[in-house]
Amino acid sequence: MTIFSAVKRIAVLGSGNGSNFEALHSEFGDQICLVISDRPGSGILKKAEAVGVSAITEKSGPELNARILARLQDIDLVCLAGFMRMVKEPFLSAFEKRILNIHPSLLPRFPGQEAWKQALDAGEDETGCTVHFVDAGIDTGEMILQERVPILENDTAESLHRRIQQAEHRIYPEALRRVIATLPHES
Ligand code: GAR
Repeated sequence: MTIFSAVKRIAVLGSGNGSNFEALHSEFGDQICLVISDRPGSGILKKAEAVGVSAITEKSGPELNARILARLQDIDLVCLAGFMRMVKEPFLSAFEKRILNIHPSLLPRFPGQEAWKQALDAGEDETGCTVHFVDAGIDTGEMILQERVPILENDTAESLHRRIQQAEHRIYPEALRRVIATLPHES
């Protein structure tokens, strides 16, 4: 008899506070089994350690992508959550369609850094967030899920980013659930 399991081993990569890590961990628990950050002492590492998830620093520098890949031997899926480094070869090909990213705009609008500020400065009346697969471009991979966020008249960059992050914490777990549902089950 074959026993099927939908349980996956998921790594989260981040450089910042780790609020998206928290949102994913609270939904997926032990399936989130590894956190890697390029920033020693970053919030994401502290949050991971606080809940008993293995937390590793890989500082930026030569062969960053190869060093990260070497840490992912038994990992099924990778979630970028505020990871401020480009994902490159050999990491990209080894995890084709298995690396997700959360971006704080309605892609393809406003790729790149501080996308909420870009939307505010452009005078938009709405923005949002996007979960997408990672490819070699900057925030260009196939989209999985988006949520719209209105821009209010008295919004500051901080208040807008805060509301976008609330939306991020809703759609990232949902997008990950959808991707897991498409993966082959292990026996
Ligand atoms: C999130 O808002 C995420 O969308 C953004 O960094 C923040 C990380 O927050 N990512 C990008 O801008 C990537 N281009 P967190 O560390 O609290 O999850």
